[in-house]
Formats: sequence, C-alpha cells, structure tokens
Amino acid sequence: FGRKAIMLSSTSSTQADVLKLAEEGESEGAVVFAEEQTGGRGRFGRKWFSPPGKGIWMSVLLRPELPLNHTPQLTLMTGVAVCRAIRAFTGAEAGIKWPNDLLINDRKICGILLESAVEDHEVRYCIAGIGVDVNFDLQDYPKDLQQIATSIQIETGQAIDRTGLAAAILTEMEHLYFLYQKEGFGVISTLWEALSVSLNRQVTVTNPQGVIEGTAVGLDYSGALVVETQDGARELIISGEVTWKS
Ligand code: BTN
Repeated sequence: FGRKAIMLSSTSSTQADVLKLAEEGESEGAVVFAEEQTGGRGRFGRKWFSPPGKGIWMSVLLRPELPLNHTPQLTLMTGVAVCRAIRAFTGAEAGIKWPNDLLINDRKICGILLESAVEDHEVRYCIAGIGVDVNFDLQDYPKDLQQIATSIQIETGQAIDRTGLAAAILTEMEHLYFLYQKEGFGVISTLWEALSVSLNRQVTVTNPQGVIEGTAVGLDYSGALVVETQDGARELIISGEVTWKS
C-alpha cells in the first residue's frame, strides 16, 4: 500500500479524493494524505476536526473480492492494523472500541470511516479513511472535544514523526489485508478481541433500532458485537454507537 501516494496541503476530504481516483480506475493501495481537511467527515455524518500539521488524515483505496456482508470484517481489520501500528511505532497503549475507534485512557485518538461502493450487491471498491490525532496539544481542541478526544503526543509526552507512523500504518494494513483475504476473519477476530477495550464491559449501544444495555462478550463470525442482556439473551450489534460508564 502507498506505492501510489498523493500528498495534499489542503483538501475538503481525502475520502472524496480517493473516490475520484477509484472511479478513474486507480489500483488498490493508492493513498491520499492531506495536511488539513476543510470538510473532514466522520461516521454518522459527523464532522471530523482536521486542522493542519497535527494529525494523519488519509484514505486508502481497497478493491477486495468480498461479498457485501463481509465489509464489517474489513472495518474491524482496519482498526486492528492501525492499532497495532500505533502501539509498535509509538509505544502508546491504544485499544479498540467497537467497531474501530481507537482510544487511549478512554479518550479517542483515531477514527476510521470505511465506505463502500456497491453495485448489484457486489462491492466495487472500499475507501478506508483514517484520522489519527498525533501531535495535538489539549488547547488545540475546541471545548466540546477536550473531554472526549486526546492525542498520542498528549498521552505519551512525546512528539511523534507523522510520516513514520503513516508508513507503519500502511505496512501493517497491507500485511493484515492479505492475511485476512488468505486466511479469513478468524485471525483478525482474535487480534481484535485482544486489543478491545469494549469487551467484558457493561455497555449501552445506541442505534436506529433503539438502545440495548448489557455486557459486550465478543464478536460473532461476521464481525458483529455480541451483547448479553440482563435476561441472558444475546443481541448481535451490526452498527451503532457503544458507550460505557468509566
Ligand atoms: C469517525 O470516527 O467518525 C471516523 C473519522 C474518520 C476521519 C478520516 S480523516 C481521513 C478521512 N477523510 C475524511 O473526511 N474522513 C476520514
């Protein structure tokens, strides 16, 4: 991954830039980085705060041969890859909140947005958008983010080489992506569970179907989160927001 890499000083969203490349027929592994995004996007239509010079804002083009219902697995694979790269490169003890937010000390340092282009129930391509808060100071955040976000620099006390970290992320992603396509989801699921900070916790899951409370006990074969409710029932969570009391 990253053999074709485009670096932009400012763009609206690297997701849109890679979408354009994908539609032009660019091959898998192409990456767009931006120093700053003026219209950075998060999950559930949220904005993603992407100021210049502090983070890694990048999108990677994937052309997996996957049935549509396997894209949640790819989402989890990306989270595992980024988490492992951050741990290895910076020593920060990042963990994964289902499906793929990365946290340190219960605050978010990285968000991942996996978007898929689908035609006739087939995946044409996917775009893995990765946003890592690398060298932010606390005062760089707007007030509303100061309670929930943090950066690798804040947590480790050290400025991190962003180029080196981005390269480490791409190397790990490429490795796990090919491992996943060869061996299936089992190995990814095991790695995910070992890095998870959601498991064995009392969680509240909010999604359009409603609110579910219970204990997060694991992943099923499709990548759904298994939540055991008080009456012993097991609910499969395919999408939604997971929260817990610290
Ligand atoms: C989330 O946690 O809601 C996902 C955030 C994803 C942010 C990244 S930054 C690079 C790429 N471009 C975007 O506009 N979004 C993703």
